[in-house]
Amino acid sequence: MENIDGQKSGNSFIDENHEGLLSHLKYLEASVKDNWGQFGFTSEIRDFIVALENHFHHEEIILKGAKYEKLDHHVFQHRKVAMDLHQGAFLDHDYNGAVQFLAAASAQIFSHELLDDQLYWPVFEAETPNPHLLILWSSKFETGEPETDKHHKALVNYINRFHRKLAFSDNISVCTELNNMCTYSRLHFTQEEKELGQSLKPGHAANHKSLISDLKTLINEIEAGNYDIKNLGSYLKFWLLHHIQTFDIPAFKHNSRNN
Ligand SMILES: [Fe+2]
Ligand SMILES: [Fe+2]
Ligand SMILES: [Fe+2]
Ligand SMILES: [Fe+2]
Repeated sequence: MENIDGQKSGNSFIDENHEGLLSHLKYLEASVKDNWGQFGFTSEIRDFIVALENHFHHEEIILKGAKYEKLDHHVFQHRKVAMDLHQGAFLDHDYNGAVQFLAAASAQIFSHELLDDQLYWPVFEAETPNPHLLILWSSKFETGEPETDKHHKALVNYINRFHRKLAFSDNISVCTELNNMCTYSRLHFTQEEKELGQSLKPGHAANHKSLISDLKTLINEIEAGNYDIKNLGSYLKFWLLHHIQTFDIPAFKHNSRNN
């Protein structure tokens, strides 16, 4: 959702998510007015809730990657907005009720996307975009476990290559690449979980699952034509690096102390 004065968050993927939600809301408002039907309204609201929750999840993955300090509070705000929408969508609305519900929901969503989301903008200000290389590998990403580092470097190379090709790709080839990325990541996660054995923390495995499921949601959304694919690098970069830094590096440090 674009800010009132046209400013952006600093992350082009998030900006595009917001613009998509804004037009989705406008579509809903027009659809209620021009084409009222209770059944249609309920199903359109459900579709919107799915899109909004997908956005929240993508945003949380990116903000984790960017190490946003107030993420817990932000996640709580997302849950609150989603819960209110779910509760409202559960009721049988007549036309007037639907218009009122939509107006209240829009106000709440706008308030979150414009005001609460602005609080994380500074985390992207330090980002220096490099058009040639999305992720520059550095020793700070090393776990110290050679096989795992080899996998991580391969995934970074894959994302960098994917990013370079984005400008010349269409949605179909992007989805193929992302599906490959899903397969490679799954292979890596399985291997890593085996490698860590007993010392694998439940939160670590759960994060692997959550990364795969968010990537799959993204593929479905691209297939539906929801995104301008040139912004995907801004997502994938945080998708991978956060996990390596937060889960993998501490896990392997801990493991080597125990060996
Ligand atoms: Fe947002
Ligand atoms: Fe948010
Ligand atoms: Fe991992
Ligand atoms: Fe890993």
